[in-house]
Amino acid sequence: MIYFALAKGRLAEESAKLLERCGVDTAVLRSETRRLVLESADGKFGFFLVKPSDVPIYVEAGVADLGIVGKDTLLEENRDLYEMLDLRIGRCSMCIAGFPARKDALTRPCLRVATKYVNTAKRLFFDRGEEVEIVPLHGSIELAPVTGLSDVIFDVVQTGSTLKANGLVVLEEVFPEITARLVVNKVCLKTKSEQLLPLIGKLREVVG
Ligand code: PRP
Repeated sequence: MIYFALAKGRLAEESAKLLERCGVDTAVLRSETRRLVLESADGKFGFFLVKPSDVPIYVEAGVADLGIVGKDTLLEENRDLYEMLDLRIGRCSMCIAGFPARKDALTRPCLRVATKYVNTAKRLFFDRGEEVEIVPLHGSIELAPVTGLSDVIFDVVQTGSTLKANGLVVLEEVFPEITARLVVNKVCLKTKSEQLLPLIGKLREVVG
C-alpha cells in the first residue's frame, strides 16, 4: 500500500482532484468521517489527513511515503525529504501586510511581526539585518494588527479577501510563487520504488 500524508484545509480538495486524475481512488476523502486513517476502496492507497505543518513530519519519518503540502510549510519546517514536484495547485504568495497608512511601518525600529511562519520570518529579517519582534500565532493572523497586537503580519495571501475584509494591504510580496509540492520520504523512494515511481511519473505528466 502507498501512504499519503495530505494537508487538511485549503489544499485538501485540489490535492484529491489531482490524485484522482492520476488514477488514485480518492472517493474515501469525500466521506463524512472522523477517522484519520482512510483507505481507498481498492486497498491500494492509505491517506492520513493532517494539519499542513504535520505533513513534512509524517513524510520525513517514513510513516507516509508521500505528501502534498505547500511550499510555505516546507520553508517553515525545513525537513529532510525529497521535494519531487511542483504540483502547481494552491498558488499563493507570502507577504508582509499591514494598514495602508503604515507603509512606513517597515522601516520603524523593532517592528512587531505576527506570523504562524516563525522560522521563516526569523530567517527573513535576520538575513536583512533587521531587528524585529516576532509574535507567534496559530491562525487568524490578520487579527493581530487590527487589535494592535502587532504592527504588521507575515503570512500567505491567496485571494487577498481576508486582508481586504480587515482593512489591510500587502506592503511587500516576499515569496511571490508559493505552490503545493509533492514530497517523498528518502528511504521509501528506494524501498518502494516499483510502486512509487509510476505514480510520481503519472503526477508529473498530469501537472505538465
Ligand atoms: C490563511 C492565511 C490567511 C488567509 C489568506 O489562513 O493565514 O489568513 O488564509 O487567504 P486569502 O488571501 O484567500 O483571504 P487559513 O484560512 O489557512 O486559516 P488560519 O487563519 O486558521 O491560519
